[in-house]
Amino acid sequence: MLNDQKIVFSGVQPSGNLTIGNYLGAIKNFTRFSEEYKTFYCVVDLHAITVRQVPAELRRRTYETLALYMAAGLDPKKNTLFVQSHVPAHAELGWILDCYTMFGELSRMTQFKDKSAKNAQNINAGLFTYPSLMAADILLYQTDVVPVGIDQKQHIELARDVALRFNQVYGDTFTVPEGFIPTDTMKIMSLAEPTLKMSKSDENANAVVYILDRKDDIMRKFKRAVTDSDSVVRYAEGKDGINNLMNIYRAFTGKSYEEIEREFDGKGYGDFKMAVGEACADGLAGVQAEYDRLIADKAFLEATMKAGADEAAYYARKTLSKVRRKVGFVN
Ligand code: TYM
Repeated sequence: MLNDQKIVFSGVQPSGNLTIGNYLGAIKNFTRFSEEYKTFYCVVDLHAITVRQVPAELRRRTYETLALYMAAGLDPKKNTLFVQSHVPAHAELGWILDCYTMFGELSRMTQFKDKSAKNAQNINAGLFTYPSLMAADILLYQTDVVPVGIDQKQHIELARDVALRFNQVYGDTFTVPEGFIPTDTMKIMSLAEPTLKMSKSDENANAVVYILDRKDDIMRKFKRAVTDSDSVVRYAEGKDGINNLMNIYRAFTGKSYEEIEREFDGKGYGDFKMAVGEACADGLAGVQAEYDRLIADKAFLEATMKAGADEAAYYARKTLSKVRRKVGFVN
């Protein structure tokens, strides 16, 4: 990489079928950085096993997530695309950073609280220390920018705190990263309960639009989307369902709130929902066609993940050997 080139890192867990929340909140934004930044996009399988996974499904979803990265426009020649467990430096730095992350800090993480409430029978240590592994992912590459949805903001702040703490003890070691969280797509909401985040682990399939949903399903889901008793398409406080649909429509069409309000002036919610469904299906059609092509070519996916891991490992090693020396490990 060039000396002053900025570095971007982000990751997606292969823990379920990816949603338009993952797409609009994260993956679509990854492509903005490909030309001018050195970019690392990772399929974070180590993170996924903090919740029980069916092994065959985890393996399948790892390929699928990599294929979706490329289908969404990430060219493996311009972006380092790889699988987290293929670069053992993540686990190694994760352990080291566990020793520089406080119990109190981890106890305050809302994702930990939410996930332990949902998985009361499996509140394992990995779920608790998840944020220090995520800090390791980011800090290993001397990352400047981390494009994510708003739900990851607290974890990025923790990564910053850990970097600052380590730098304070040992001198400059890690770049302190910043989140990149564009407001209108930072939290795509459930279609059934628009005060809650759209989530790949939601059991109600009608609440969630998956990136690979075909047009009929997309139209049906938007048709059923929960709105409000008003009938005016307008972005306003308390209109969570409509605000969410406006954000989705905006993200797929590039129209502003004012343009959308004008377009649907005098029309009902029914027309608006159909238009959002059409825009979403059209916006995903290209990604889906490319995905279908890529997922059929396992050899290419494997070659891509191998080349990505080799490249990532080269950069990761540089940081890790610096860290090992600073903490006092014998080489
Ligand atoms: P994950 O797999 O839950 O989600 C992947 C990305 O999608 C974003 N996202 C959303 N954005 C907007 N609206 C939504 N409804 C929505 N749902 C998900 C997430 O914010 C995320 O950016 N901990 C991370 C994975 C991770 C990571 C990292 C990310 C591991 N290491 C290092 C960045 C840097 C996670 O669970 O994402």
